Amino acid sequence: MTTGIGFSSQHVLIVGGSSGMGFALAAKLLGMDAKVTIVGRSSEKLTAAQQQLASSDRLHAVIADVTREQEVARLFSSAEKFAHIVTTAADITDVYRLLPDLNVDTARRVLDSKIIGPLLLAKHGSPRLEVGGSITFTSGIAAYRPAARGSVVAAVNGALESLVYALAVELAPIRVNAVSPGWVDTPIWETVAGDRKIDVLNAMASRLPVGRIGRPSDIADAIAGIMQNGFITGAVVHVDGGQRLV
Ligand SMILES: NC(=O)c1ccc[n+]([C@@H]2O[C@H](COP(=O)([O-])OP(=O)(O)OC[C@H]3O[C@@H](n4cnc5c(N)ncnc54)[C@H](OP(=O)(O)O)[C@@H]3O)[C@@H](O)[C@H]2O)c1
Repeated sequence: MTTGIGFSSQHVLIVGGSSGMGFALAAKLLGMDAKVTIVGRSSEKLTAAQQQLASSDRLHAVIADVTREQEVARLFSSAEKFAHIVTTAADITDVYRLLPDLNVDTARRVLDSKIIGPLLLAKHGSPRLEVGGSITFTSGIAAYRPAARGSVVAAVNGALESLVYALAVELAPIRVNAVSPGWVDTPIWETVAGDRKIDVLNAMASRLPVGRIGRPSDIADAIAGIMQNGFITGAVVHVDGGQRLV
């Protein structure tokens, strides 16, 4: 039964756990005695994350692409049960384009990583969840504050939230939720803004009610809270420093 304050002996699967918010969540949960499996495509990133997390014997890393059904099925092929499943994975490389320059294969990669991946995790992972377990996806502020060049990301985040509502009904009593981050300082910004990362984030920080950009730990704290609160399902929890208001 997955209730209580800590995560002692609970096994949490984090797709995207080698970087950014997923990594912060892995660090937090390991500090709360959970057993954590982090998943990503790059063995280098996973190894670096393991080293940074001091290679706890409660930490495991698995290489898998969440967009590939066989690889997702393999994550759940043993009899091992999970208390919670989380994905923060997104492949948004080169997708911020005005429509004339938009490459449809690039758009499909975003869709695959943020919609098909969560669907596959729910399909293959839900039978492996303990009683009281949960699934948490990661949408994002782009669904609420769209910008030119951001149409694909906006659409995908919005669709993911609709998927949350549907799966919360279909998979009940498994709880299904999403966290919707505002702008958070993670490696994804090297892809989005390159050399302009610091300037872009600082400009947003000055506009936000909280006066700063998000930290990966802000999102990790929210996901941990969603996992522990047995009355939250079909919810989108906004952790955006008030960005929807400005
Ligand atoms: N950072 C922000 O400001 C912000 C704002 C709003 C929403 N978000 C959303 O928040 C989530 C987390 O973002 P982040 O900033 O933490 O990103 P990040 O630092 O780039 O981390 C993304 C993680 O996902 C993994 N990943 C990507 N594609 C994958 C795939 N197909 N299969 C398995 N793993 C995959 C990456 O590892 P590999 O590359 O090795 O696979 C990496 O571990 C994303 O969904 C993003 O869209 C972020």
